[in-house]
Amino acid sequence: MRNIYRPELMQVIDARRQTPDVKSVRARFLDPAAGRDFSFRVGQFGIFSAFGYGESTFNICSSSNWRDHIEFCFRKTGRVTEALWEIDEGDTIGFRGPYGNWYPMEEWEGKNLIFLGGGIAMPPIRCAIWYALENRERFGEITIVYGARTVADLVYVDELDKWAAGPGVRVIRCVDPGGETPGWTGEIGFVPMVFERAGVPAGNSVALVIGPPVMIKYTLPVLDRMGIAPQDIYTSLENRMKCGLGKCGRCNAGECYVCKEGPVFTMEQLSRLPTDY
Ligand SMILES: Cc1cc2nc3c(=O)[nH]c(=O)nc-3n(C[C@H](O)[C@H](O)[C@H](O)COP(=O)(O)OP(=O)(O)OC[C@H]3O[C@@H](n4cnc5c(N)ncnc54)[C@H](O)[C@@H]3O)c2cc1C
Ligand code: FES
Repeated sequence: MRNIYRPELMQVIDARRQTPDVKSVRARFLDPAAGRDFSFRVGQFGIFSAFGYGESTFNICSSSNWRDHIEFCFRKTGRVTEALWEIDEGDTIGFRGPYGNWYPMEEWEGKNLIFLGGGIAMPPIRCAIWYALENRERFGEITIVYGARTVADLVYVDELDKWAAGPGVRVIRCVDPGGETPGWTGEIGFVPMVFERAGVPAGNSVALVIGPPVMIKYTLPVLDRMGIAPQDIYTSLENRMKCGLGKCGRCNAGECYVCKEGPVFTMEQLSRLPTDY
């Protein structure tokens, strides 16, 4: 029987610095059979290990349609992520997963999609953006607002132009005041304010909002003023996790185990949880 705690080995096939402290990694299962058996849904996460250092939880930020590899992107913040920062093409890492629930992309079909992301929150949105673009006929208009503190803090910048070239896709990039460079052609301002100024039509829309708490706090009233209901606004929580399997009790918000029932919640669901998430 498969040991649910045992990581599968993966070989890094690409590792690149996105910002001074954020790295993106592309990896493939060493065991071809494990790769063939593996599937996931966009929004799910994995638990990645740097051998000798420990495990860290990251969203799988590639599209579930990409069958030969998965991608993740992380910020260097502590022991494990500093060890992962050193990995390069050809190195081996561990992976457990996929875990958690996912974005209900089938329920979003026929609707306009609004993606609002701040900083390192782009990776968990990126998987849904690629999925929507690869199934373009199933969705309405797509609006992406992505902001970071400075131009140097934006991740996956090379992909923003590719997304913007898609039919019915509007991409708005922004940086906080003072974070612009002389050649910056995007907006200057915080994500919620830039989004409200953009006057995006809100009818028949769902929104996926991921970012620092302060961004979410100021974005919700904007969505409310636009008439988007809490059950149509989704986010992804990042409670600290250990097992990822609903067994250790590390990730709970009240009686809810975020690793099992989340990480994806609607704002309506979150309003029923205690505020310790
Ligand atoms: C479902 C989920 C998805 C995530 N996806 C991503 C992702 O795609 N990219 C990414 O960079 N990070 C993501 N995180 C956060 C990531 O797991 C932590 O930043 C990482 O585990 C820190 O490990 P460390 O050993 O390097 O740091 P530690 O030494 O454990 O901690 C260093 C610092 O990081 C903070 N930290 C630790 N864990 C978390 C956490 N879960 N959330 C926020 N801050 C934390 C600590 O408070 C501390 O300040 C996700 C977390 C969850 C639960
Ligand atoms: S991470 Fe162990 S119960 Fe959720």
